[in-house]
Amino acid sequence: MQGKLKDKVALITGATSGMGKAIAETFAREGARCIVSGRDLKRGEQLANELSELSPTLFFQADVSKAEENKQLIKKAAQAFGRLDILSLNAGVLGLGTVSGTSVETWQHTIETNLNSIFYLCKYGLPELQKTGRGVVLINASIAAFKSFPQHAAYCASKAGAVALMKQMALDYGPEIRVNAICPGPVNTPLLHDSAQAFENPESIIAATEAKTLLKRLGEPEDVARLALFLASDEASWITGSAITIDGGILNSG
Ligand SMILES: NC(=O)c1ccc[n+]([C@@H]2O[C@H](COP(=O)([O-])OP(=O)(O)OC[C@H]3O[C@@H](n4cnc5c(N)ncnc54)[C@H](O)[C@@H]3O)[C@@H](O)[C@H]2O)c1
Repeated sequence: MQGKLKDKVALITGATSGMGKAIAETFAREGARCIVSGRDLKRGEQLANELSELSPTLFFQADVSKAEENKQLIKKAAQAFGRLDILSLNAGVLGLGTVSGTSVETWQHTIETNLNSIFYLCKYGLPELQKTGRGVVLINASIAAFKSFPQHAAYCASKAGAVALMKQMALDYGPEIRVNAICPGPVNTPLLHDSAQAFENPESIIAATEAKTLLKRLGEPEDVARLALFLASDEASWITGSAITIDGGILNSG
């Protein structure tokens, strides 16, 4: 098997949908043996079957908001192909609301899913990456780490926390392990369309968002997967501790 990730083993969370799925497909096409993870057994097994035609792929079910499930996921993933080189962490939820309009349950669930899961997966995953002498962690954060959006209190806080945690891990785990965050703008996935539901006219919100990008279109999951491939590969061997925006220019749109 040839490819930019030949001989690598990658664990991809949030892999049954959106950007995680596009990243898993891209990694498999580039020769990585993949462990794809998500909560939906049927979709996960179907994905693993499809990707196995490109590269050996296994599906492990896990809810990343639960500490113990992350521990078990890393244990099984490290055993599956005898090593672990890349963690691509994509699972995420929105948890919409202003601060006073966000229930304690929504706040906790958003932080558990978007931030604590990164702590759990890296706490147990980094020692596995260290065994290979070289490893890569790629966190799917968001431009919401840098910019506020109406009714995104828990989401913005979770993504800013994810970027801070990324920088801390890059500091503590270099030079063996590179840790970076991808910070997408609006990408055409179920999560984006769910976020529009917070507004009266979801379709016009999506159209307005599209128009606000300097490139006049939403991102596609494949746009982000190409960046993830670059960051996961040796071509990015001097990049660590970076939060890289990929947003069609929307952060710069005034
Ligand atoms: N779509 C966007 O515009 C956008 C922009 C910036 C960042 N992001 C981030 O990108 C990542 C991927 O999202 P997406 O846009 O591809 O949306 P998506 O809804 O297609 O994918 C998110 C995935 O995470 C999974 N997930 C949610 N909670 C989980 C849990 N507790 N355990 C395991 N899996 C869980 C979902 O089932 C889904 O498969 C998320 O972290 C999201 O915050 C999205």
